[in-house]
Amino acid sequence: MTKPLRVGVLLSGNGSNLQAILDAAGDDYAVVVVVSDKAHAFGLERARSAGVATIYVDPKAHDGRESLNEALADVLRENKVELVCLAGFMRILAANFVKAFESRILNIHPALLPAFPGAHAVGDAIAWGAKVTGATVHIVDEEVDHGPILLQRAVPIESGDTEETLHERIKVAEHELYPEAIRLFAAGRVKVEGRRAIVL
Ligand code: GRF
Repeated sequence: MTKPLRVGVLLSGNGSNLQAILDAAGDDYAVVVVVSDKAHAFGLERARSAGVATIYVDPKAHDGRESLNEALADVLRENKVELVCLAGFMRILAANFVKAFESRILNIHPALLPAFPGAHAVGDAIAWGAKVTGATVHIVDEEVDHGPILLQRAVPIESGDTEETLHERIKVAEHELYPEAIRLFAAGRVKVEGRRAIVL
């Protein structure tokens, strides 16, 4: 039996995706550390309740993005993290971080990329009048919400949807999709070829 893949999660807020990832962990992967740029992120409490190490990295203690990103990468290296999962981490990663974990960083986004990138994806899909949106797990590169797409799931937009009701349904999809993506990774079934993430 091979050892579980060592997963590190970066978050800034509630952490419902972290919870889904924690709940699905097992022989194939383990969350070994949860890192936040917000001292009081509820996600850190979820991690503590699950007995997972938590680390707060204070952005104000760092002189600029590069230095903060180096500190984040250091924490993950110290914990021997093999796969980094962004789960509502509200900062753009710098090139030094992306290079340090090249093709080993996943992000979850509440839309079907490349539609509706950015921080307001759910509201943007409603405002555009889209009939379908969804969730995307992609590999992180140096551009925001841009890297190779690993998994996607569609979620229909109902006529009475508000940003809150729609986001809630998207999160149901996210909570299934993110652990599934990590399991694929843990099984060595993800191969990146240029813009494409191929599931073997
Ligand atoms: C999710 O909708 C995710 O797609 C986006 O941020 C949200 C985080 O939610 N990147 P939570 O903190 O996991 O509940």
